[in-house]
Amino acid sequence: FIDIRKLQSTTGICTFDPGFGSTASCESSITYIDGNKGVLLYRGYPIEELAAEGDMLDSTFLLLHGELPSRAEKRVFGREIKMHTLVHEQLIQFYRGFRHDAHPMAIMCGVVGALAAFYPEVANTRDPAQQLRACYRLIAKMPTLAAMAYKTSIGQPIIYPRNDLSYAENFLHMMFAVPCERYEVDPELAKALEIIFILHLDHEQNASTSTVRTAGSSQANPFACVASGIAALWGPAHGGANEAVLKMLQEIQDLGGVESIPEIIRRAKDKTDSFRLMGFGHRVYKTYDPRAKLMRQVTYRVLEKMGIKDPLLDIAMELEKIALQDEYFVKRSLYPNVDFYSGIVLRALGIPVEMYTVLFAMARTVGWVAQWKEMVSEPVNRITRPRQIYTGHLRRKYVADVDRT
Ligand code: ACO
Repeated sequence: FIDIRKLQSTTGICTFDPGFGSTASCESSITYIDGNKGVLLYRGYPIEELAAEGDMLDSTFLLLHGELPSRAEKRVFGREIKMHTLVHEQLIQFYRGFRHDAHPMAIMCGVVGALAAFYPEVANTRDPAQQLRACYRLIAKMPTLAAMAYKTSIGQPIIYPRNDLSYAENFLHMMFAVPCERYEVDPELAKALEIIFILHLDHEQNASTSTVRTAGSSQANPFACVASGIAALWGPAHGGANEAVLKMLQEIQDLGGVESIPEIIRRAKDKTDSFRLMGFGHRVYKTYDPRAKLMRQVTYRVLEKMGIKDPLLDIAMELEKIALQDEYFVKRSLYPNVDFYSGIVLRALGIPVEMYTVLFAMARTVGWVAQWKEMVSEPVNRITRPRQIYTGHLRRKYVADVDRT
């Protein structure tokens, strides 16, 4: 990396890097990626080990505080997070204002941003205790807000959180329990969901995290910063890809199943068609995304445990096989990313497709707040302010009555 700050201030030189593919916007000690080797580490720990041996609480503590917790630290941390799972009763009113068929990501952009109105004191604060409390609040309230968005969309009463359950169990409970019936969370399926969450916790300076940091660089309220991250995550080129993958697989099935794959591949390669193979390709990984590998394993495990034979999994596997043998994808190093298999496993767990990106946002909130906390803890914060290459007119004379004939 070349540090061009000095060069810029002494010579005025700027770099032109659309999409920031070659620009490091900050220093961070949270997540390490080696895109050529397919390595992903949180604070130095391989994602594979955290997913196999850790849990959501460990990994969340690790990302926020830099080290894995001791048993005592974990107990205290768990209590502190759970203190904040409820949301202000007045916030519940917000949900009534949305159309009944509103996309839950649209609801999430609104209600998470609205949290800023309930905690205005945290904007611009330099008090680390207040900053940390805001991070805990966001992590704790996201599952509650997400499940409420789902319940609103299906017209069911909201279910309050249960703090005796784990993060994933509590989320499943709020999603699927109904007041008049008994609902038992399957611990094995909750564990699978927890692994899915761990795989999504952080991924250095992706579009949504960069958005959170950009908003935070102006000292905006952290709740508003996370709302901006949710908006950036929603797009199908980023977190919205998990929903788009499932829709694409469904479309292939509707077109006749695996026989239609060559046509989909042809469209993905056609430069006159804007269609892309969803769940394929990554800015940083030029080999198999390590999260996708783990996601595929979890998918097999969950489907087997539930005795589900999902034709979409057969389509996904065949699609992957054909794409990985195709010169177009090989030449461009396009491999499955984290979103390629996640939709199939979430579908097996009974999560509706519109909620896929919401689940991603819930998990990624941990990374967003860890990155925000890291940024605001630095002694000097420099506002994010990229330059541009101006391509418009130079100075022109004002004309009062423009004649367009
Ligand atoms: N299908 C077909 N072609 C593709 C795909 C794809 N999924 N992805 C990239 N390409 C091609 C591009 O057309 C381009 O071809 P060219 O060199 O002939 O012009 C080449 O590969 C390089 O692609 P870029 O767009 O420059 O790659 P970039 O790093 O900007 O984009 C991205 C990465 C957005 C992830 C892209 O691969 C994509 O759109 N994938 C599909 C959407 C997706 O799965 N997003 C989730 C990403 S993971 C995440 O955000 C959690």
